[in-house]
Amino acid sequence: MIVELKDVNSFYGESHIIFDMNLAVEEGSSVCILGRNGVGKSTTMKSIVGLLNPKKGGNVKGSIIFDGKELVGMPSYKIARLGMAYVPQGRHIFPTLTTKENLLIAERRGVDGSQYWNLDTVYELFPRLKERENSLGSKLSGGEQQMLTIARGLMQNPKMLLMDEITEGLAPVIVKELVDIVRKLQESDVTVLLAEQSVKFALNVSQYCYIIEKGTVVYHGKSASIPEKIFEQYLGT
Ligand SMILES: Nc1ncnc2c1ncn2[C@@H]1O[C@H](COP(=O)(O)OP(=O)(O)OP(=O)(O)O)[C@@H](O)[C@H]1O
Ligand SMILES: [Mg+2]
Repeated sequence: MIVELKDVNSFYGESHIIFDMNLAVEEGSSVCILGRNGVGKSTTMKSIVGLLNPKKGGNVKGSIIFDGKELVGMPSYKIARLGMAYVPQGRHIFPTLTTKENLLIAERRGVDGSQYWNLDTVYELFPRLKERENSLGSKLSGGEQQMLTIARGLMQNPKMLLMDEITEGLAPVIVKELVDIVRKLQESDVTVLLAEQSVKFALNVSQYCYIIEKGTVVYHGKSASIPEKIFEQYLGT
């Protein structure tokens, strides 16, 4: 397992949000976290990448092992250096920089020295970004901005890429493009962890799935074989 959460409990100040969460991701696989609004998907992601640190009023208890190292208590910049890239919910790009500049400031070698992902390989994966390379971030469409946030994560040559609701607010044709992109990522050996409300998309691109409700895992299993009853109970509207 490349990442393993054991009995994780997460808090924002006094609010206890994540309860005894256990979750594991196998190296090279794609895993999704599903659940309705406000169940704690983003909080789980933030707990992993160190964004719930006490300085920001957050607190994480339990253990999160990534590549043999304990992440709980480690600052987010150190976690990033271990090879964990994070695409936050909402598109946080630099609006006054061009596409190319947004990409170049993120560029770095992987922990093992790998530099597979660079401007050329990222543009190959996202030809649209190449076309828009000199456009300002603020001038990109929603879909292009989302592609840019993913591409920027890749420029860090991560071992693992966490993506929080990358399909949110995107047109179906763009979501289809993202399906291909996540699949190609897998072929390049990047481990993927997705948090999604788009069940169809997530199950399409993942091998394993965790469903959470009220801050805890209520079901986990292979993405291809989730019982209908579980869908209705936890994911239906
Ligand atoms: N900074 C914060 N301070 C206090 N409570 C928060 C904070 N951020 C989120 N919460 C609360 O934590 C709970 C889980 O939120 P979280 O954002 O993790 O859910 P989510 O599953 O990602 O939802 P969504 O599908 O809407 O993105 C919610 O009740 C939310 O109100
Ligand atoms: Mg969220």
